[in-house]
Amino acid sequence: MILLSGIQPTGRLHIGNYLGAIKNWQEFQNKYTSIFCVVDYHAITVYQDPKELKQNIYETTALLFAAGIDPKQSTVFVQSHISAHTELTWIINCITPMGWLERMTQFKDKSQKQGKERVGVGLFDYPALMASDILLYNTDVVPVGEDQKQHVELTRDIAGRFNKLYGKIFKLPKAIIPETGARIMGLDDPDKKMSKSDETYGHAIYLLDSPDDIRKKIMRATTDSLKDIRFDKKRPGIYNLLTLYERFTGDSRKAIEKRFQGKGYAEFKQELADIIVEGLRPLQNKYKELTVDKSYIESLLKQGADKARPLAEKTLQLVKNKMGLL
Ligand code: TYM
Repeated sequence: MILLSGIQPTGRLHIGNYLGAIKNWQEFQNKYTSIFCVVDYHAITVYQDPKELKQNIYETTALLFAAGIDPKQSTVFVQSHISAHTELTWIINCITPMGWLERMTQFKDKSQKQGKERVGVGLFDYPALMASDILLYNTDVVPVGEDQKQHVELTRDIAGRFNKLYGKIFKLPKAIIPETGARIMGLDDPDKKMSKSDETYGHAIYLLDSPDDIRKKIMRATTDSLKDIRFDKKRPGIYNLLTLYERFTGDSRKAIEKRFQGKGYAEFKQELADIIVEGLRPLQNKYKELTVDKSYIESLLKQGADKARPLAEKTLQLVKNKMGLL
């Protein structure tokens, strides 16, 4: 079974990216043939400062390896290093109705915020590129956070439509969404998803945050005026923090509630902060080791692209043949 997922090299990765995606990727790599793509072409659907983008591509890749993705076991590469991704996107564009893309909630949200005159065509077409990432590798499963579920479902629809028009080529991939932690919310506003693009201090805990910052952010995280510490979705602040505790410790909800019975928010938050600091420490140490030598990351990315490219080109050639392209 083949597993594929992707991550944008934009801004700093946060614990939402980690719990919703990367941590699971690391765990799944023993079970599936795994491919992970640093999606730089997705990143440029909104303007990126060239110097920062380059740095973010290194940083994102190094963080994947630091989080335990093993380059010997899994294939990790940069999307723009394999031109089949954009070629298949063009083909997908030609069979995908605009209405399908217009219904994507991420696009609707972003285009409403920025206005149609400012939003690029690339942002509209973003899910077609994502479908191409997935379909090129005969992917069975796509582990993602909740926000990407709709895009994976669209990929299934696109694959189905292609198969109907030109004969069966594509497998229909399935999203794997974690039971908890699929939607980590902002610490400053638990009604909003934790997001790389929100730069308010205290919104997100970044994977490379210092222990001091982690503690500060947890201690000031928004909760409510109630007292008891329970998993109650109607209390999004404390629910979000409890979910972090659950995912970082692996403890059951019952055990967590029991542990904090009769205790106050301050005590809970202090313990949660310690757990996150310790939970991220190995990753942070590994990151420091890995980034001493940029050329090492470069060599791993080259190795990954060399491994993935023939697979992608094979699928692309098959598609072209089926469509009557010479
Ligand atoms: P991206 O870069 O926005 O996010 C990477 C992964 O992190 C998850 N995630 C979250 N999970 C839980 N809580 C949050 N607050 C949170 N924020 C982000 C995302 O769901 C994602 O799994 N379009 C994709 C990248 C992509 C891709 C692909 C994914 C491109 N091609 C092919 C899978 C397969 C994206 O922008 O992810």
